[in-house]
Amino acid sequence: MKLFNQDLAPRGSSMSYAGLLERLEILRSTLRWANQLDRPDIEKLLRQANAVRDEVMQLSHKERFVQALDADRRSEAVDKPLPHPGERRQALLARSFVFEGTFGDNPRLLDALEIAEKAAPTDLPVLIDGESGTGKELMAKVVHANGARADKAYISVNCGAIPESLIESELFGHKRGAFTGAATDRKGKFESAHKGTIFLDEIGELPLQGQVKLLRVLQSHEIQRVGSDETIAVDARIVAATNKNLRKLIEEGQFREDLFYRLSVIHVSLPPLRERKDEIPLLLAWYGDEAAEVLKRRPVALSPRLREFLLEYAYPGNIRELRNLMYRLACLAGDLADLAQLPEDIRPRAVPAPAPASLEAKDADGASSSPPAPASLAEAKRAASDEAERACLERGLKDVGGTVAELARRWDMNRSHLQILLKKHGLHSKDFRQAR
Ligand SMILES: Nc1ncnc2c1ncn2[C@@H]1O[C@H](COP(=O)(O)OP(=O)(O)OP(=O)(O)O)[C@@H](O)[C@H]1O
Ligand SMILES: [Mg+2]
Repeated sequence: MKLFNQDLAPRGSSMSYAGLLERLEILRSTLRWANQLDRPDIEKLLRQANAVRDEVMQLSHKERFVQALDADRRSEAVDKPLPHPGERRQALLARSFVFEGTFGDNPRLLDALEIAEKAAPTDLPVLIDGESGTGKELMAKVVHANGARADKAYISVNCGAIPESLIESELFGHKRGAFTGAATDRKGKFESAHKGTIFLDEIGELPLQGQVKLLRVLQSHEIQRVGSDETIAVDARIVAATNKNLRKLIEEGQFREDLFYRLSVIHVSLPPLRERKDEIPLLLAWYGDEAAEVLKRRPVALSPRLREFLLEYAYPGNIRELRNLMYRLACLAGDLADLAQLPEDIRPRAVPAPAPASLEAKDADGASSSPPAPASLAEAKRAASDEAERACLERGLKDVGGTVAELARRWDMNRSHLQILLKKHGLHSKDFRQAR
């Protein structure tokens, strides 16, 4: 019988098989020793049996999924031992794979994307892990967008950002008067995600009490609003993400093992950017173009030494950091960006800081004079940030020929806030009227 065949069970789910057997045994002995059962007891046993049945179905789904993936890989390996570079990428795109970013030929990233693509049409829970800025949220959207629920709700919850006392109400809703401040009945995120997908971000931050409640909902597919006895059926596909090592949290007693297995039926790991450096040129081009489009300017060219730096840099903030860097360069540089326009904390030490208000004139020759030494690190940071702000404002005003309203519209900013910033830097829009 499949359930008992440990060889078939993928590593990790054997824990769940053992747990299921234990629960079946409890059910069996309850029935064996019961002389008489009242209706409520029968209902309770039925609910328990249903939960076990659901879990068995999920495990069997997972087995089929993992076996299909393995079979796919084996047959690919036999037919085409070494795919040509670009082949896997092209194949994904040819299958109308929806992805709002860019990807190259990095095998680890392609592994993750192919798993997400295959998992998407199923309703299996997906757990995505990876360092901050590696694209976990983007991947959650990939799972949603490539599945049958794509046209239904996608609800995102940041489990780390909700105060512990409000988690239950945020996830499951509440009834009017359930607690001080509950002035009206309120739907929770699970109900809003009915028929769609719920993205549980930073799941490792969910306190233990919240974990117990979540587990119960995942088992029963029902929620109860806080302060209400009524149960409401919810059908939400679960995608969770974390930048923590959940196995370590389990060892430390901070994360429930049973919840981990529930959530990680499909597990996708995103490699940090420093382990997929071959993707960096693609991302530089992608975000160089995007930043130019957003800032309504021509794409910035990178000096050879800046390009070399950007290709080799370790990006502790991963793709988010690369993206921010490209926006910074597009804002601060003229036609050619150089090391001097990098943020001070990552700039190679021999390179001087850009001189105030002359950023645009500078180029690869690094010919500007060094500014006076700052009194402290905080002072240096403040000065660098002021310089960048001023340079950006100057460039923006120049591009719009000194029309503040137009600049506010382009930057999607409040006009009076923009006026305050101009005043702070002593900039006068009329000085830019002829400069266009
Ligand atoms: N392959 C990619 N192509 C283009 N942009 C990407 C790619 N992957 C991620 N990004 C971008 O990188 C940024 C960070 O991605 P995302 O927010 O998904 O990361 P995260 O892992 O959820 O980060 P955090 O842990 O800090 O929440 C976003 O702007 C996202 O659009
Ligand atoms: Mg995120």
